[in-house]
Amino acid sequence: MKKIPVGILGATGMVGQKFVELLSSHPWFKVVALGASDRSVGKRYGSAINWSMQKALPAQIGEMEIVACEPNFNCDIVFSGLDSSVAGEIEENFALAGYKVISNSRNHRMDPDVPLMIPEINSDHLKLIQNQRYGKGAIITNPNCSAIGIAMALKPLVDHWGVEKVHAVTLQAISGAGYPGVPSLDILDNAIPFISGEEDKVETEPLKILGEFHKEGIAPYPMQISATCTRVAVNDGHLACLSVKLKKKARREEIIAAWNNYVGEPQSLNLPTAPHQPIVYLEDERHPQPKLHRNLENGMVVSVGRLRECPLFDWKFVLLSHNTVRGAAGCALLIAELLAKQGLIE
Ligand SMILES: NC(=O)c1ccc[n+]([C@@H]2O[C@H](COP(=O)([O-])OP(=O)(O)OC[C@H]3O[C@@H](n4cnc5c(N)ncnc54)[C@H](OP(=O)(O)O)[C@@H]3O)[C@@H](O)[C@H]2O)c1
Repeated sequence: MKKIPVGILGATGMVGQKFVELLSSHPWFKVVALGASDRSVGKRYGSAINWSMQKALPAQIGEMEIVACEPNFNCDIVFSGLDSSVAGEIEENFALAGYKVISNSRNHRMDPDVPLMIPEINSDHLKLIQNQRYGKGAIITNPNCSAIGIAMALKPLVDHWGVEKVHAVTLQAISGAGYPGVPSLDILDNAIPFISGEEDKVETEPLKILGEFHKEGIAPYPMQISATCTRVAVNDGHLACLSVKLKKKARREEIIAAWNNYVGEPQSLNLPTAPHQPIVYLEDERHPQPKLHRNLENGMVVSVGRLRECPLFDWKFVLLSHNTVRGAAGCALLIAELLAKQGLIE
C-alpha cells in the first residue's frame, strides 16, 4: 500500500518528537514535512533537536530540513504539537488552506464546531467538521493529556450507571510541561501543587468529550468535576486519583468488568494504533505505577487500580495514562487513522 504523506507542526518539541517516533514505523503514514519556529527553520532535524525518545531517530528523518509552519506542505494532513502561544493562528491558516489539522493544543478544543476527540469514546463527534468554515480543511483536537485518561476511565461508568460528581487529584509527569520544561532544581526531590491552566481543562473537557452529538454542537455531559493538578518527579505518565458519585448503585466486580470489556470504534475497525484492550484493571493494590505500566500496549492503555468504596462519594480509584502517547501523539494518530478509514484524507 502506498503510504499517506503527513506533516508535523512543532516537530521539535516533546509531542512533536513522539509523533516522529510513532510515525517512523507507521504502516499507513509517512512523514514528509517537519515544521517548527524560526529558531529551528533551515536546520537538519537531527542537529536541531535534543532527541529524547527511546527508539533511535531514523537517519532519513534526521536528515530532513526543518521548514516554517506555513501551509505549503506536500500532504493533506498535519499533526500539530505547537506551543499554544502560536498554535491557534497557525492551525487556522493550515485548515483554511485545505489541510486536515489534528491538534494537541488547547486553542480550539472548546470551539463549538471543533471535535474534541478520543476515538474510543466519541468518534461520532467527527461529524462536527461539517459545520466548520474551512472547506475541505478541518481542525480536530485531542483533549488535554490528563483529561484523556480521566474521560476514558469515566466512559464505562457513564454508559452503565451515569456519573454525577467527580473529585480528581492528578500527579503529572515532567514531560507534560514540554522541553526543557520544569527546571531540575524545582522538580527533583519535590512535587509542585500547581500547573497553570490545567485544572480548568480537567474540569471542563471531559464534559464535552462525553457529551452528546447534535447537528449544531455537543450537549455537554451533565456532571461536575473538581480537580487539583500537581507536577511530580516522574518522566512520563500522568496518575489521577478519582472519587466518583454515580447515578445508580454499582458493584465492584461490575465496574471492573465494565472497564476491562470496554472497546470502541478503533478496536472494531482494527486501527493500527488501537490497543486491543484500551482500559485495563490491575488487581495488585500497589498498581498502577508510571514506571511499570505507562507502556502497556505501546503506551495506549489507560490502566486503573485500587477501586474501593469512598466514604464521601460512591467509589474511588487511581488511573494512569502515558501523557505523550495516549494523552497526545498516539491519540492523534488514532484520529488520523479513523479519518483515513472513513475516506476523509485524499
Ligand atoms: N507534553 C505533553 O505531554 C502534552 C500532552 C498533550 C498536549 N500537549 C500540548 O501539545 C503542545 C506541544 O507540547 P510540547 O510539550 O511538545 O511543547 P514543547 O516541547 O515546548 O514544543 C513546542 C513546539 O512548538 C514550536 N514552536 C514554538 N514557537 C513557535 C513558533 N512561533 N512558530 C512555530 N513553531 C513554534 C517549537 O519549535 P522550536 O523548537 O523551534 O522552538 C516546538 O516544536 C502544547 O500545546 C501542549 O499543551 C502536550
